Amino acid sequence: MIEARAPAKIIILGEHFVVHGSHALAASIDRYITVTASYHSSDVLIASGKAVKAEHIFNSVDKITRGRHVKLIVKSQVPNGAGLGSSAALSIASTIAVSKLFDVKPDPSLLFDISMEAEKYIHRNPSGVDVAASLYGGFVLFKRGELRIIKAQPIRFLVVDSRQRRITGNLVSRVKEFMEHNPELFASLVSVSDLMSIKGAQAIENGNVEQVGSYMNVTQHFLELIGVSTPKIKSIIEYLNGKVFGAKLTGAGGGGCVIAIPRIGNGLKSGYMVKAGVDGAYKINYGKQLEPSTAADDVA
Ligand code: PMV
Repeated sequence: MIEARAPAKIIILGEHFVVHGSHALAASIDRYITVTASYHSSDVLIASGKAVKAEHIFNSVDKITRGRHVKLIVKSQVPNGAGLGSSAALSIASTIAVSKLFDVKPDPSLLFDISMEAEKYIHRNPSGVDVAASLYGGFVLFKRGELRIIKAQPIRFLVVDSRQRRITGNLVSRVKEFMEHNPELFASLVSVSDLMSIKGAQAIENGNVEQVGSYMNVTQHFLELIGVSTPKIKSIIEYLNGKVFGAKLTGAGGGGCVIAIPRIGNGLKSGYMVKAGVDGAYKINYGKQLEPSTAADDVA
């Protein structure tokens, strides 16, 4: 039996706009999906003790398994459909687990491609930011075909789950509709979001969490404008007002989680703290930190 682990992620800035060509700033977090792989007579994936449909995983890992069958047992610390990148972490952990089982050591770009294939099956048009954050780890400034790893100390984020579950692909389609009805406005939002992600990455590098928080607040307004926030998310953010440097939904929205950077001594009683900027799946499983230049080449 062979085990592999991949971290969940948060998108700090730039979700949705990244689908349309801008940068996003994301980070791996210390919540994990662990997959155990073993030889089996047919393909089976077990989660929470039950066999679940996972054709997309088996189809994509076929590049490694080449028609041989495996049993995958999943242990997860990541809620599904909550914006924390559970599907990307599952496909990465599964791909690495079967690679180890068949004694293959795929390079990071192959792992990225295989996981993207599984993501495409679920989300139709994923940007790749979830896969990049979980695989490479740390803080990543991501744009389609481009990746920069930001060197910075981990940062504590508060995560509050709205407990509203949703499907990323539906939210991405809703944003496309908004874009079609408001082309000029949407283009401006994409361009400001792009700049905020780049500036946000610099602020992370300089340890300026207050600045990151300001960009998060503006991003939340953008996400409300394009129709992916909810009254529940808004009420969580209102509750956090004054106690945090910034707060916003993370991921596709329509529910899911709110992330925030708390001020010291804020007395917050909701949610839980996570460490953002932890090791990615590649480092965890193969013990090698990917250098920024290598990473950029791999994804390009
Ligand atoms: O699936 P989620 O909730 O982690 O969101 C993914 C981020 C989006 O920007 C909404 C989609 C994408 O592929 O970048």
